[in-house]
Amino acid sequence: MNPVRPLINHRLSGRSNGVNPIFQLDAKVIEQAKVAEESFILSLEAPSIAKTIQPGQFVQIRCIPRYDPLLPRPFSIYRVREKRILDILYEVVGRGTRMLSETRKGDVVNLFGPLGVTFSYPRPKHLSILVGGGVGLAPFYDLAEALIDPKRGKQRKEDVIILLGARNKNRVFCEKDFRRLGVHFEVATDDGSYGFKGLVTELLAKHLRATRDERRTTQLYACGPRLMLRKVSELSKKFKIPCELSIDAHMPCGYGICFGCAVKVQTKDQRPKTQDPQGKGSENHFFYKLACVDGPVFDAKEIVWD
Ligand SMILES: Cc1cc2nc3c(=O)[nH]c(=O)nc-3n(C[C@H](O)[C@H](O)[C@H](O)COP(=O)(O)OP(=O)(O)OC[C@H]3O[C@@H](n4cnc5c(N)ncnc54)[C@H](O)[C@@H]3O)c2cc1C
Ligand code: FES
Repeated sequence: MNPVRPLINHRLSGRSNGVNPIFQLDAKVIEQAKVAEESFILSLEAPSIAKTIQPGQFVQIRCIPRYDPLLPRPFSIYRVREKRILDILYEVVGRGTRMLSETRKGDVVNLFGPLGVTFSYPRPKHLSILVGGGVGLAPFYDLAEALIDPKRGKQRKEDVIILLGARNKNRVFCEKDFRRLGVHFEVATDDGSYGFKGLVTELLAKHLRATRDERRTTQLYACGPRLMLRKVSELSKKFKIPCELSIDAHMPCGYGICFGCAVKVQTKDQRPKTQDPQGKGSENHFFYKLACVDGPVFDAKEIVWD
């Protein structure tokens, strides 16, 4: 029996390509590699998803074949190989990811995707800065690869900068992969045990001051803990640089049914839409979007941080 079956036509919005089918399949584990303390890359054979998924989108994985834990967990795609293998970079934080780390070559995990909207590409000759806080680096190999692809992002390798923020040198991963790709890669560690000493947002601010002095047109992307995203968002506002954020939210379903991943956003003109459909002047200039279908990628200007 073919384990691959399109689920439903996804209500994709934003930078999606219309009606993408979602595939659900039992994927064979090709490899489980430890890349740092409590961090792994899981390689899964999933050709239908590998052929269609785009940078920024994610998959929902049932961490073991049984239904406990019941809910799937969302993961970005670190890398797609040979149009059939999905590499997932993940950190063990709880029960589901612990179980995932115990799967071995030949085991099977159930997953579905692609889900969510994609990152957008800047116009050629922009500088792209991609900021990953810890395992927030996960979607950025795939994005960096797309950015320097002559048919997709059309950027030069030297114009793509990856900044990784890590607690210490034992938490630094994937440096070799990015260096092999030929993009610029820098690390900030909280304790200074590797690379820049300090927060990755301090390293980012240093880069943004330099790009402002050089008058470079720049595009920012960030993924990581909420506090880091908030700071990146403030910096993008201060330096007037467009910025896309991949928002981490609990995602019980992953396709717009449960409303468990609501994200508070504001409209460009600050007028409420969903909350006050008649536009009669509610005090609250916000409404909610769903991170799983309207995101996980959002324009930083949209997010309400309180
Ligand atoms: C779109 C998207 C893409 C993601 N991509 C990756 C990825 O590539 N690699 C990776 O390691 N992680 C990723 N995550 C986060 C990952 O889904 C969670 O770490 C995972 O669900 C935790 O499951 P668990 O059963 O191990 O933890 P649980 O036992 O469910 O929870 C353990 C702790 O983690 C917190 N937590 C659980 N899920 C989330 C969440 N989604 N956001 C914030 N805190 C959470 C809980 O509150 C709790 O404190 C992504 C999340 C989203 C929304
Ligand atoms: S996760 Fe269920 S609506 Fe988004």
